[in-house]
Amino acid sequence: MTTTERLIGAAVPRIDGPAKVRGTAPYAFEHDPGERFAHVAVVLSTVARGRVSALDPAEAEGMPGVLAVLTPANAPRLADDLEPDLAVLQSLDVHYRGQIVAAVVAETSEIARDAVARVRVEYAAEDPDVALGVDRDDLYAPEQLMAGFATDSVIGDVDGALAAAAVTVDATYETPTQHNNPIETHTTIARWDGDSLTVWDANQGPHTIVRGLAQAFGLDPGQVRVISPYVGGAFGSKAFPHPNQIMAALAAKAVDRAVVYELTRPQMFTLVGHRTPTIQRVRLGADAEGRLAAISHEVVEHTSRISEFAEQTATPTRVLYAAPHRRTTHRLARLDVPPPTIMRAPGETPGMFALESAMDELAAELGLDPVELRIRNEPDRDPERDVPWSSRNLVQCLRTGAERFGWAGRDHRPRQRTEGRWLVGTGVAAATYPARRRKAECRIAASGDGRYVVEIDASDIGTGAWTALSQIAADALRVGLDDVELRIGDSRLPFAGGAGGSTGLASWGSAIVLTARDLQRRLDEEHGGQVPAGGLTVDGGVDGASPHAETHSMHSFGAHFVEVRVDRDTGEVRVPRATSVYAAGRIVNARTARSQFLGGFTMGLSMALHEETVTDERLGHYVNHDLAEYHVATNADVGEIDIAWIDEDDTLVNELGVKGIGEIGITGAAAAVANAYWHATGLRVRDLPITPDKYF
Ligand code: MOS
Repeated sequence: MTTTERLIGAAVPRIDGPAKVRGTAPYAFEHDPGERFAHVAVVLSTVARGRVSALDPAEAEGMPGVLAVLTPANAPRLADDLEPDLAVLQSLDVHYRGQIVAAVVAETSEIARDAVARVRVEYAAEDPDVALGVDRDDLYAPEQLMAGFATDSVIGDVDGALAAAAVTVDATYETPTQHNNPIETHTTIARWDGDSLTVWDANQGPHTIVRGLAQAFGLDPGQVRVISPYVGGAFGSKAFPHPNQIMAALAAKAVDRAVVYELTRPQMFTLVGHRTPTIQRVRLGADAEGRLAAISHEVVEHTSRISEFAEQTATPTRVLYAAPHRRTTHRLARLDVPPPTIMRAPGETPGMFALESAMDELAAELGLDPVELRIRNEPDRDPERDVPWSSRNLVQCLRTGAERFGWAGRDHRPRQRTEGRWLVGTGVAAATYPARRRKAECRIAASGDGRYVVEIDASDIGTGAWTALSQIAADALRVGLDDVELRIGDSRLPFAGGAGGSTGLASWGSAIVLTARDLQRRLDEEHGGQVPAGGLTVDGGVDGASPHAETHSMHSFGAHFVEVRVDRDTGEVRVPRATSVYAAGRIVNARTARSQFLGGFTMGLSMALHEETVTDERLGHYVNHDLAEYHVATNADVGEIDIAWIDEDDTLVNELGVKGIGEIGITGAAAAVANAYWHATGLRVRDLPITPDKYF
């Protein structure tokens, strides 16, 4: 069955755009909780490991306008079985630098921030252990990785095949700690009414935040409401509950009044997660024609002392290329660092930097076009699961991208082109990301006047989901966009998983389509095709993964082509142009999809050239914890980006043929830049970012 397809695919402008531009769309800080809220400011630990040995709140408590100083001695108690990283102010132990050790609640944010400076804290400090290395003797294999991926995969005799291969690559790549930096800092307003908690919050999924708060405060999920209609970016850092929401609710409880807690930019560097650094050894073995016999990808990364976050870094290596002998492994070190979390394509992003750099190194060893090398290793089935693809168009992305970019005739030797002071090179890399679907529920109410209210606890974190879902709903209901009112971003709405893992549109859109079909069927069968006078409301949804996910491998693919210019005297790197071509299922909104692809690629470029959180290993301190020193790509860093996609009609992934597009753009992008840098300079940078000093 298909929808009428009048709106799906169209470049509909964002329906929430005018309200955002006019400033009438309320972000978390801008909600009115019904009473004047107090402000929370926090004291963060200045040691990375140890214990608070003395804490004197007296001076802060005596300041006019201070309502309370919360410490482990007087803060309301949270559930005993709470995950340690959410157990805010429950103990004197310090597990990372930048942990909340006290908080002030005051009439204004100025008073609160002034008062935190007057809380006296002393520590019994121990030396922190924050340096990741492959030689650590405490590396361990986690039971499984994020999203249920297996920790290791081994097929055939990798070492034997590597030893016998005509051409090999054996290289180690490193990616640094990185931080999600959405422009809206994490903000929470909390208000208690007896045992009921209402929270206006910036997050990627209200139901997920409800779960964390209910667990922390020993409440039934029905006693907690999380409201988040507009979110100013997230990239993974707002997907799960973090100490900030717990802090706000704890403070509101302590002073019996609504409070707001807005993270400062520096606080975001320790309280809401980061991307783990990685050390990745990739070994490839091929015959003289470039056909891979063996692929080995071994990953070392970190997690925090108090919680396990095991990122799925080598998983794209399990699907991208054919080779009879293959191995992927993940090992973790528990360090005195804040808990890492997901950041746009967690795992795939650093993993694809390593794999796609290694493929470029192999092409160079062979003297072969790196596009051709990839095409020669195209697998006709998922090479590890041994099942067919639901659809796979990587080769078409490579060919289309090569054509649009003007790849033909490239001299594959490095450092052959100069223009004035600039060394000029081009590079290519593949992209891939899983296509998944998760459980989602939906309610559609039809009224006699031809209007429909569609309710689902989806999130639009700036992606355009609000618009795309409205298009899907209108088509499924065979009405115009103006006849549909979509309500999202409120845990009182029917359950939906958060915006994450590029599952949003596939999951929420499927729920809407199935519920709309059910509504149509009931109107036809029970009401002669007419909405009854009193209206009709129908609940529906999807249970989870596509029924074909067991028998098929479901992924998006893409290819990036990048031109890099390097100043031959200063090492300055510019990216004047790039082409990215994607095969990512059906594209619902051509305008917002282009923005997602563009944003994903730009974040990959940013990773390649700028992003790096510097850790002072003596102190366990993130040194460059603001946007002045943690550099992200800005407009001036991005040249002409040509975005295109290949139409796919994948009937197996879900009702809509949607694969999800939020994350694929970043995968492989950093490798394409690094490969172009090598082509320009002859220098292979294996540790990101490619700052000017790497040239010397
Ligand atoms: Mo994305 S890192 O799954 O929010």
